[in-house]
Amino acid sequence: MDQPRYQGFDLDAETALALLDWQREMGADLPLLDTPVDRFELPVRVAPMAPAAAAPAPAARPDDGTADADARLAEAEALAAGAESLAALAEAQEGFDGIELKRGARRFCFADGDPRARLLILGEAPGDEEDRQGRPFVGRAGQLLDRMFGAIGLARDAVDAERAFYVTNVLAWRPPGNRDPSPEEIALSLPFVRRHVELAAPDLIVLMGNIACQAAIGQRGILRLRGGWVEAFGRPALPMTHPAYLLRNPAAKRDAWADLLALQARLEG
Ligand code: URA
Repeated sequence: MDQPRYQGFDLDAETALALLDWQREMGADLPLLDTPVDRFELPVRVAPMAPAAAAPAPAARPDDGTADADARLAEAEALAAGAESLAALAEAQEGFDGIELKRGARRFCFADGDPRARLLILGEAPGDEEDRQGRPFVGRAGQLLDRMFGAIGLARDAVDAERAFYVTNVLAWRPPGNRDPSPEEIALSLPFVRRHVELAAPDLIVLMGNIACQAAIGQRGILRLRGGWVEAFGRPALPMTHPAYLLRNPAAKRDAWADLLALQARLEG
């Protein structure tokens, strides 16, 4: 069988798929043209400056996209409100097509741990490993998260619900290249997060990092917010520095340990 050719190279299917995967990892996840354009081969053209008055007026756009965004948000709200159980919510959220990220992600990432737990941890978004496994916090940051909460006697797989935690993210789909979620992506995810918290009904919430704080309390600045109790979704919540930040800044682990002890005291008090 003839090998497919790509810009003069012979490629087997496995290599072609690996290349595509690499591009997606780098954030190039939107095909714009059917045929690739080698921009190094294009002649360099310096366009003469046209006088501003000569430029044609841009055609009036019938819609700036606001109506579409409002409709997608209304759909997310209706789907979330209609879910009467966590299983129904997961199904509704996974089926929601209004969020563009869904098209670039591998797996839907809903939650992990014990939904009966008294503590719910709200993270940011799936990373590469979470996107592969369809479970939140299973990469390097997730392993540190397990060690942190293990140090105060909590585990996501504890048999006893009193000793367990439950974990989810603001976003259920991975943003390409692990970029920060946009305000629109957060807004579209928020109805599902709100309903998720309502159905799981934890006693306490940990807001893990800036994106969780932005979504839940409309504030960023985790180094200022951490360690101070706030109210999120009608429940007591503790902002903490994200384990990914702690991996990059080990000196911040001291404050994180103080936060864990405060959390333990509140759970036991
Ligand atoms: N970081 C998060 O905030 N959530 C994950 O699931 C993984 C990494």
